[in-house]
Amino acid sequence: MTNQQLAKKAISAKKLAYAPYSNFHVGAALLDTNNEVFIGCNIESAAFSPTCCAERTALVKAVSEGSRTFTSIAVAGSLHGADSHDYCYPCGVCRQMLYEFGGDELQVIVVKSEQDFKVHTLSELLPYGFGADNMEALNANI
Ligand code: THU
Repeated sequence: MTNQQLAKKAISAKKLAYAPYSNFHVGAALLDTNNEVFIGCNIESAAFSPTCCAERTALVKAVSEGSRTFTSIAVAGSLHGADSHDYCYPCGVCRQMLYEFGGDELQVIVVKSEQDFKVHTLSELLPYGFGADNMEALNANI
């Protein structure tokens, strides 16, 4: 699975977005170490705060299917699902959840189009992330 193929799946997953409140449609495609892809879209709620981002939808699908180790995630987002004018970066909550399973080295592919995407490591987007290692260090100091 190339980054471009994953980008294409994220763009396609945007079509499934349920976003009647923001009209901002987001698609994500998460690649695991067995080369399996889990797609996700954002799912909004009339109560607003229960809204689930596309990245977390993909992650929850993957983990609940038994997949826990990931190499990369592509994310595409745009108003009304039109062609993107900009790269869509994961929100802070999603960065933290991705850190839980992907760690510093997870590749985050932010997608404008099939031909135009950028690749970051999660550590660029979430430096000094808080994870299980920090918990062990804290416990060791008790
Ligand atoms: N959203 C995502 O799905 N992923 C992101 O990375 C940013 C934001 C969703 C949440 C909400 O449904 C809409 O985009 C507007 O914030």
